Amino acid sequence: MAALKMTIDKSNKISKINKEIYGHFAEHLGRCVYGGIYVGEDSPIPNVRGIRKDVVEALKAIKIPVVRWPGGCFADTYHWMDGVGPKESRKKIVNTNWGGVTEDNSFGTHEFLDFCEQVGCEAYVSVNVGSGTVQEAKDWVEYMTSSNDSPMTALRKQNGREEPWKIKYIGIGNENWGCGGSMTSEYYSDVYNQFQQFIGWGPQKIACGPNSNDPAWTDKLMSKCGGWGRMQGLSLHYYTIPTSNWGKKGSSVEFDEDEYYKTLANTWFMERIIRDQKGVMQRYDDDKKVGLIVDEWGIWTDVIEGTNPGFLYQQNTMRDAILASINLNLFNLNSDRIKMANIAQMVNVLQALILTEGESMVLTPTYHVFDMYKEHMDAMLVYSNIENKNIYEGKYLPAVSQSVSEDESGKLHITVSNSSLDEDFDVDCVIPRAEYTTVKARILTSGYKDFNDFDHPEDVCPSDYSEVKLCGEKLCFTLPRCSVLSIELG
Ligand code: AHR
Repeated sequence: MAALKMTIDKSNKISKINKEIYGHFAEHLGRCVYGGIYVGEDSPIPNVRGIRKDVVEALKAIKIPVVRWPGGCFADTYHWMDGVGPKESRKKIVNTNWGGVTEDNSFGTHEFLDFCEQVGCEAYVSVNVGSGTVQEAKDWVEYMTSSNDSPMTALRKQNGREEPWKIKYIGIGNENWGCGGSMTSEYYSDVYNQFQQFIGWGPQKIACGPNSNDPAWTDKLMSKCGGWGRMQGLSLHYYTIPTSNWGKKGSSVEFDEDEYYKTLANTWFMERIIRDQKGVMQRYDDDKKVGLIVDEWGIWTDVIEGTNPGFLYQQNTMRDAILASINLNLFNLNSDRIKMANIAQMVNVLQALILTEGESMVLTPTYHVFDMYKEHMDAMLVYSNIENKNIYEGKYLPAVSQSVSEDESGKLHITVSNSSLDEDFDVDCVIPRAEYTTVKARILTSGYKDFNDFDHPEDVCPSDYSEVKLCGEKLCFTLPRCSVLSIELG
């Protein structure tokens, strides 16, 4: 078995891993909201005010910190007034982005914020820039957050909510270079400045960032909107496409070893994007007041055959678990600048953590990775290095990915994954001056195409792992092929 050397310097604490890096994205798309989160009060599926109990419990168990809503592309077609007031009089609209289906607006502002309260997470609301107005966005924020008297707060009270909600983040538009209005960076910067002015100073305001790795967009936004407290975050979207071909992205379940490796090599492009975007941001904001917000990331494959192409429903395999682990480690390692990330999407869409079918619910391998990584939330990133080897000829694909943090109680959390399909590694780790006495470890490992479904919900699940030995300053563990491992030292 090959040996790898690892070093952890726990005296070198780099940055706080903002818990919102473990955030989520829920759009009015396919069965994410309707069926996945919301089934309506009259549904036989157990619910609280229409919101699925099983899904809420699963999300609470992994302590999700924040949810971004209502889109995505949907956000720039969404008029929030359609989704408040008595349900029977809510306007029905066509969801033009996603399948052309009828959106009955039964899940609106009150329902979303009720969902956040039931889960115990922060809200990240994206306002409509592409087809909305400044007044509409201003009114929405006032409706949700003001404790003063105004027509908007009176309407909120009339609709059953006396106290304002706390909205931590407001997104000003989505992909405004594309589905959010096909704007130039010059034009969007002006529009952003105008919107942010009337939204005010309460919530943290997030601007639409570049499409993948476009430094020119970031440069324009940072130079025109980065100062005077106008912008607390700049978003970034990058999806991993297995074949790199948007026309034929590749299947979520039927792929060979070569496509597995190609997908993971493609996901490592995230490292390059982060490096480049951080570089541009640093030129304008060296004290890091503006966070990089990766508010859409994950694998995007072809839909499952026979499902609505506009619903973006895909399965989730062990490949997705490794991919999640690589990305979460990268976000941890760059937590000096990355303040939030939101996987796309939470339920039934793209790289979902949860799949539902009627009253059944399945937790995907990606869900289990979030579970294994949850101790990193709000912990301090600690320096770590691992000897590595490239495992895909002609492309950058390191076998191993890792990150390490120390929580408030002094426990050390190590997460590491092995992308190789044919090599296990013996990791020999030195932690100078370590005096830990306890070790706990969990592993997620399976065949690279394995997944959980409604007939086999527990084929890919984490288990306790004993191949970890702690001896003073030395930690030795075996890292099996195609696995994600989490270790806690106390
Ligand atoms: O997550 C699906 C879509 O991908 C979002 O609506 C959009 O922002 C992105 O292009």
